[in-house]
Amino acid sequence: MASMLEIQNVQVSIADKDILRGVDLKIKQGEIHALMGPNGSGKSTLAYALMGHPGYKVTAGQVTFKGIDVLELSPDERARMGLFLAFQYPVAIPGVTVANFLRTAINSRRKAEDPKDRGISIRKFRSLLREKMASLDMPEDVAGRYLNDGFSGGEKKRAEILQLATLEPDIAILDETDSGLDIDALKIVAGGVNQLVGPDLGVLVITHYQRVLRYIQPDRVHVMFEGRIVESGGADLAHQLEERGYEWVRAAHGNGVGA
Ligand SMILES: Nc1ncnc2c1ncn2[C@@H]1O[C@H](COP(=O)(O)OP(=O)(O)OP(=O)(O)O)[C@@H](O)[C@H]1O
Ligand SMILES: [Mg+2]
Repeated sequence: MASMLEIQNVQVSIADKDILRGVDLKIKQGEIHALMGPNGSGKSTLAYALMGHPGYKVTAGQVTFKGIDVLELSPDERARMGLFLAFQYPVAIPGVTVANFLRTAINSRRKAEDPKDRGISIRKFRSLLREKMASLDMPEDVAGRYLNDGFSGGEKKRAEILQLATLEPDIAILDETDSGLDIDALKIVAGGVNQLVGPDLGVLVITHYQRVLRYIQPDRVHVMFEGRIVESGGADLAHQLEERGYEWVRAAHGNGVGA
């Protein structure tokens, strides 16, 4: 059975302020979902809450992944189970190289699946890394640099996709992985995601632009507004938003409070 991320009536508060006010969403392996919505509507909040960021308090609702209640698990345990988040603003980790970071992450994921696993051999890891970096058009010296330290905006986004490509999660959440990319980089990054898309990967693409959805075609598009998903539809919903903006969403669902 395909594993599934199931979000039911999730409410989240940050510093006692209610941000998400009941979100429902189901994502299966093999499906691509896009999440759109105005600035401040709660898209990144959903991503952080799903990964278990300590500042994001889930005050109601349920999140299960592969049938397990993940709200009880640490961010690390969630990642090892195969849940992946590419951050809107990736953080630098001075002192930890890209290669070391990835090798540690791969090994802890392998160990979670099989406690007897001895880890990936250096030789296999090197060739895996070389292959994945080449497919994302990343220069080889990046592997020896500290993760995201001094990386340009576009380089950070590519490094996120490199993590996605090497870790092979079951469900990946990409928070504005397309923002700040030049046109060529957008094609490379979207192409990198497309290569990974298939029956084993479910994706939630958080984006403001229809542009990226030309490369990564969503099965479903959802609109977040004031902390709720207020519209869901097929790929044409993204076109509609691009043409009409969010005014009609606001008119239909706004209550004058919040963003
Ligand atoms: N640490 C925080 N402290 C207080 N409020 C916060 C914090 N983080 C987020 N918020 C608020 O939560 C709301 C939702 O923010 P969020 O980042 O989820 O929006 P978003 O939909 O991802 O927006 P964008 O499209 O601009 O990325 C905003 O009003 C924001 O100001
Ligand atoms: Mg955001």
